[in-house]
Amino acid sequence: MGKDVIIACDFAGRNETLDFLGLFVGKKPFVKIGMELFYAVGPEIVCEIKNRGHKIFLDLKLHDIPNTVGKAMKVLSNLNVDMCNLHASGCSEMMRAALSGLTRPDGTRPLLIAVTQLTSITPQMLKTELLINSSMNDTVISYAKNAAACGLDGVVCSPLEAGVVHNACGTQFITVTPGVRFAGGDVGDQARVTTPERARELGSDYIVVGRPITASDNPVSAYERCIKDFVSEV
Ligand code: C5P
Repeated sequence: MGKDVIIACDFAGRNETLDFLGLFVGKKPFVKIGMELFYAVGPEIVCEIKNRGHKIFLDLKLHDIPNTVGKAMKVLSNLNVDMCNLHASGCSEMMRAALSGLTRPDGTRPLLIAVTQLTSITPQMLKTELLINSSMNDTVISYAKNAAACGLDGVVCSPLEAGVVHNACGTQFITVTPGVRFAGGDVGDQARVTTPERARELGSDYIVVGRPITASDNPVSAYERCIKDFVSEV
């Protein structure tokens, strides 16, 4: 599995996003388009960024009844993104409907990844608000196994869980891991975080990095630091 850094383009508008991507002269980073940008601008921002030569992870985290998710995925399959996702907590029938909806008539489809537990969720929240008595690792592993059994390609989890997911589901099962911060960086609303270098050691396949790059004084050098620490063998 080739490792890569995905930049979370959590911006509120088209111009801000394209100005940001314009900083990366001669480079085409893999980008994540999430709810904020997609809801603000609409599907055309996906096509515009794709046409500029970027790979796209469309992070809309679908979570609804199987019929609704399956039909929504069918619509998203026309956007020609490389990766999209849903919540594993929607359960197996929903994940199978999503996979079927996403698969185009010619049999091709984007990668489909299931969110296990958001990286902002703490073990305490798991217990007291979600009423899940299993540990964070066991919960993530169980959701990952369900996703794998439904034929999905991988999961979103914290880098801290990447190793146990690979042990449970195999090394080909993709781990996409947000919750990445440089040592000493601002954690913000994330709870289960680690550095790009540690994420590599733990076996993440893709790190998703937002504010440490987008809010940096020098986004290009912050991105290059992520590539060096996460992708390059030292
Ligand atoms: O700015 P930051 O690096 O925290 O951005 C992380 C990105 O990854 C955000 O766009 C967030 O929506 C997304 N994400 C996450 N945890 C998940 C799934 C997605 O933080 N489990």
